[in-house]
Amino acid sequence: MSILIVGGAGYIGSHVNKYLHRAGYDTVVVDNLCKGHIESVCCGEFFCGDIGDEAFMDRVFSSCKIEAVMHFAAYAYVGESVISPSEYYENNVIKTKLLLDSMRRNSVNNFIFSSTCATFGNATEIPITETHPQNPINPYGFTKFVVERMLYDYDNAYGLRSCIFRYFNASGADPECEIGEWHEPETHLIPIIFEAATGKRAAVSIFGTDYPTTDGTCVRDYIHVCDLAEAHKLGMERLIKTGVSENYNLGCGKGYSVRETINMASEITGVNIATIETERRKGDPPTLIGAMQKAEKLLNWKPKYSLKDSIETAWNWYVKKEKLEKK
Ligand code: UFG
Repeated sequence: MSILIVGGAGYIGSHVNKYLHRAGYDTVVVDNLCKGHIESVCCGEFFCGDIGDEAFMDRVFSSCKIEAVMHFAAYAYVGESVISPSEYYENNVIKTKLLLDSMRRNSVNNFIFSSTCATFGNATEIPITETHPQNPINPYGFTKFVVERMLYDYDNAYGLRSCIFRYFNASGADPECEIGEWHEPETHLIPIIFEAATGKRAAVSIFGTDYPTTDGTCVRDYIHVCDLAEAHKLGMERLIKTGVSENYNLGCGKGYSVRETINMASEITGVNIATIETERRKGDPPTLIGAMQKAEKLLNWKPKYSLKDSIETAWNWYVKKEKLEKK
C-alpha cells in the first residue's frame, strides 16, 4: 500500500514525501507542476497531472494501491488571495471537492488535509487552540475553512475520514539541504529576507508597524517543515488505526515579530539587512501563535526545531540553490 501525496513537488509536500520515504513508506506523488518543481520530488513514483482531472486521478488510483491521500496542492498566498479570490476558490475548493470524489469512486477513505491558522482570522485568544472560533479574514483562509466543513460532511455522509492540520507559519528546509522552500515569485518573509541579504532586492519591506504587538509588527509562530512532516506521519497512522477524524493546530507555541525575525536572520547570515517600513498588507492578522497541546497529547508530537534552526536550514538551502542557478 502507498501514500498518495498530491502537491508533492511543492514546499511542504516534498518534505513530507522525503520524510515518509525515510520512515519506510512507499509514496506516490501527483503534481501538475504549476507551482511545484520536479527537482523537489526526491523519491517515490511521480505522476504529472491535475487533481481536478477525474480520468487522470482514476488512472492513478487504479495503477497504485493507495491507503491514504495527503493534500498539499493548494494556492497559499494570503495577499494574492485577496487580489484573485476566483483562482483560490477554483483551485482550493472546487478541485479539492473533485479530489475527494475521486477518492470515493476509488474507495480510498483516509485523507490528510493541509489547513491553516488563517482559518481563525483575528484571534481573540492567544495561543490559539483547536476550539477557537474560525472567522477567516482573507479568501485563502476561507477556502481552507470551506474544505474543513466539507470534510466534516463527507465523513458523516460517506465515511471519508480526515486528519486536518492547521499549520502556523511553515519555515526552514531539509537539514540535508536536498530540498527547500522554492516559490516563484517569493512572498514569504524568511526567503525575502535572504533576497535582501544577497542583494537580490534592496531591502525588506515591513508590512505595517502599527499593529497591537510589542514592536508594532506582525507576530507569527514559525514551525519547521520537518516538524510538520513528522506530525503528518503520526496523524496519518493514528487516523488509519482509529478511523476517527481529528483536527490539530501545528505551531511551536511561541511568536516572533517581523522585526525579531529580520534581526535573527541578520545574525545568522552575517549581513545587516536593510528594511523599509510600508503600509499593512491586506488580510494579515496581527498575531498568530498556536497551541500544540492536542497534537502533543494525541500524537505524541512536539516540535524539535526552533526559529533559529528554521532560518539556518533555510539559509543553507537558499545559498545552495543560488549557486546551482548561477552554474
Ligand atoms: N511580511 C513582511 N514583509 C514581506 C513579507 C512578509 O513584513 O516582504 C510579513 C507579513 O505581513 C506577515 C509576516 O511577515 O506578517 C509573515 O508573512 P508571510 O508572507 O511569510 O506568511 P503569512 O503569515 O502571510 O502566510 C503564511 C502562509 C499561509 C499561512 C500563514 C499562517 O503563506 O499559507 O502563513 O500564518 F496560512
